Amino acid sequence: MYASLKSIGAYVPSRILSNADLEKMVDTSDEWIEKRTGIKERRIASAEESTSDLGTKAAEIAIARSGIAKEEIDLIICATLSPDHLCMPSTACIIAAKLGITNVMAYDISAACSGFVYMLSMAKAYIESGMKKKILLVGAEKISSVVDYTDRGTCILFGDGAGAAIIGATDNKNEAIVDVHASADGNYADYLITPGCGSKYPCSQETLDERLNFIKMKGNDVYKVAVKTLTNDVVDILQSNGLEASQVDHFIPHQANFRIIDAVREKLNFPIEKTVLTVEKYGNTSAASIPMAINDAYETGRIHKGDLMLLDTFGGGFTWASALVRFGGN
Ligand code: UT7
Repeated sequence: MYASLKSIGAYVPSRILSNADLEKMVDTSDEWIEKRTGIKERRIASAEESTSDLGTKAAEIAIARSGIAKEEIDLIICATLSPDHLCMPSTACIIAAKLGITNVMAYDISAACSGFVYMLSMAKAYIESGMKKKILLVGAEKISSVVDYTDRGTCILFGDGAGAAIIGATDNKNEAIVDVHASADGNYADYLITPGCGSKYPCSQETLDERLNFIKMKGNDVYKVAVKTLTNDVVDILQSNGLEASQVDHFIPHQANFRIIDAVREKLNFPIEKTVLTVEKYGNTSAASIPMAINDAYETGRIHKGDLMLLDTFGGGFTWASALVRFGGN
């Protein structure tokens, strides 16, 4: 029995934050943002919407497309760095309740932008071991809640959104999750961090005054490690599965910065036509980025049953992960 990605769904809030809007907020320009990142606009959730609302809407679409009844779901995992609540309950528990699913195992994972691919490795293990049968994975972010809109080095990059997938079982190898590699190096923790409001610097007037509750990033250092790691990761997973880049139908990288994606793509000799890009319209949506990109390719008719997708992601931790996945949906 193999694990299979049976369906995909995504949701973005309606409000658009354009580069022109950001020009009015910080010392930046549309030209700089587009040239350095490829981003033109991103979505921002309303004050009434939380991460679980975005995740629930994406999940409803994925469930409907899978053809299964929501009651069949026996595990819900949510990857997010912007949970509804800092400690508890988990956003996965809230999504379960909003979906009307009770009596289900549900928990969050923390792997920043690598969250969705990390979850794929867990789902694969649960299904292949027979422990679980129908798993809902949700990557959801109201990342605008932890972005400092006075910091031009970060606020131009991020956007809100959610993506979800149903993972089930199949006996058909041509519809299976082939392999997942996931790794981390905590020596880089300070490079991409929300320093405050955890146990190290608990929330206080001081942490808030110093804006330590927001994302801090050594952008250029992250950029260099990201390009190298994302490239090595792809070479590694292709080699260990005896595959060539030319056998991959869709390269679906984390949508952090067009320049990063393009550098990796060029190093791997991967054609742009086979590369899925959503960074221009959604920016970096962290744990939602990969499932949102899969969904975009699915909704535009690019992805078909059995197609081989190569996922590649990198984020805070540092964490990174890649996956070879044959699409198992219709
Ligand atoms: O999802 C997790 C992983 N995250 C990432 O992958 C993000 C990785 N990093 C990046 O995408 C890029 O490093 C950035 C887009 C954040 C920055 O681009 P960069 O080409 O690395 O620029 P830089 O940080 O080296 O800064 C170059 C200049 C600096 O000015 P000086 O010192 O040369 O005068 C910055 O102050 O650009 C300046 N700058 C800006 N100028 C206009 C930085 N941000 C902005 C801005 N608008 N928004």
